[in-house]
Amino acid sequence: MADVLNIIYNITDDGFYITIFFIFFVSIYKCFYKNDMKKIPFFLAIFLTNPIFSYLLSAFFSGLVITVASLIAGSDYYKRYSKLDNLQEMLVAYSITGILFLLFILLFAWRFSKHMKIKNRSLVLFVYLIFGVFMNLFFGITVPQSVSDNLVLRSALGIGFNILMIIGIILFYLLHIKNLSNLIDRPHDTDWKIFVIPPMLFILLYSSIVMTIADFLNGQAAIILQSFSILIMYLFIWTFYVIIKNINATGEAIKAKNEVKTLSVEVMEALAHTIDAKDEYTRGHSVRFAKYSRMLAAKMGMSEEDCENVYYMGLLHDIGKIGVPSSIINSPDKLTDDEYDVVKTHPCLGYDILAEIKSRPDLSIGARWHHERFDGKGYPDGRAGNDIPFFARIISVADSYDAMTSNRSYRSYMPQAIVRSEIEKNAGTQFDPEIARCMLELIDDDTDYALHE
Ligand SMILES: [Fe+2]
Repeated sequence: MADVLNIIYNITDDGFYITIFFIFFVSIYKCFYKNDMKKIPFFLAIFLTNPIFSYLLSAFFSGLVITVASLIAGSDYYKRYSKLDNLQEMLVAYSITGILFLLFILLFAWRFSKHMKIKNRSLVLFVYLIFGVFMNLFFGITVPQSVSDNLVLRSALGIGFNILMIIGIILFYLLHIKNLSNLIDRPHDTDWKIFVIPPMLFILLYSSIVMTIADFLNGQAAIILQSFSILIMYLFIWTFYVIIKNINATGEAIKAKNEVKTLSVEVMEALAHTIDAKDEYTRGHSVRFAKYSRMLAAKMGMSEEDCENVYYMGLLHDIGKIGVPSSIINSPDKLTDDEYDVVKTHPCLGYDILAEIKSRPDLSIGARWHHERFDGKGYPDGRAGNDIPFFARIISVADSYDAMTSNRSYRSYMPQAIVRSEIEKNAGTQFDPEIARCMLELIDDDTDYALHE
């Protein structure tokens, strides 16, 4: 009888672990069916935080602590501990392993959330922390001696609870998938209490049970304790699922954001091409020139975000030319004073057009002040020195560089040495000297003179 029960007990025990594994793999499949390789760190996270692995880690740390304790206190400690008849010592040992385990989980969660650029990092840390607490409470308590000595009773209890747990896990998982999907589809509705209250309630209940068992170390207390273990498993699966769905949603949000960004860049480049198309001398100018501006900004040591901004400003800086008649822009003859006055309106026209793009107020800066000179002799406002916005000063240098290194109907691009000496000569008058110095460095770096039309 006892043997048969023992075999069934082992089968249901394995069934319990298989169920957990199955549910985890279902979750992973749901997350990774698009085969997104970037989510591999997340896959590792699931692996490292799954109950089996956590159990092994926990057992490893427990073993480590007990070994160290035995070495310090003598082998007697180990013997007494291994019998598990001293609740206090057992709790102390598991508290220590618990702290070690939590440190590991926290460290891992911190690294992991940093990698995934998860917005609410503290939330992730909290959920991982709760995992650690649960893992240690759950695996830290074993049935008391009186129960474990009775093989039939122990097996029968084990079978009963294993079956209950398997049913419970499956039911809980099935019941909550729908709700959680809704929750994640509306991330703004996600209430922090949802993450905090159930675990807190559980900890309160659980600690009262631990106290009860300290007074009545018998089979009844163990049954209550095991019942609460089911609750722990529920919470495990629930929190895992929330994390999986949340991270998936974060990934989707990042993807959507990137798509919008790509679209805006494409729209801006298309706009830049329309300006270029109008001016037959400067075809392809905007994109090439915007790249020079970005290179120059990078050389100035600006942040990646600022470099991007300079690129966009560069793309659209001449958009005001849309309002200048083609006959003037493409005039083969030297412009009359009146015609030149019309050309000079393009910075303000561009400024007015770009000021409409409220989400990117910086864009208009490059358009308005890219023809200002450092000595104040430029147009449209005659600003000088640092009164000219920094980004516009960068664009001004890149604009002149591009003009000299582009082919014109009346000449081909200038030799590099001449371009270099022109920029050097105009540093401090036309150009901001510091930016001109960086441009000279860029020219010197470009030993093959690749930076021309
Ligand atoms: Fe211009």
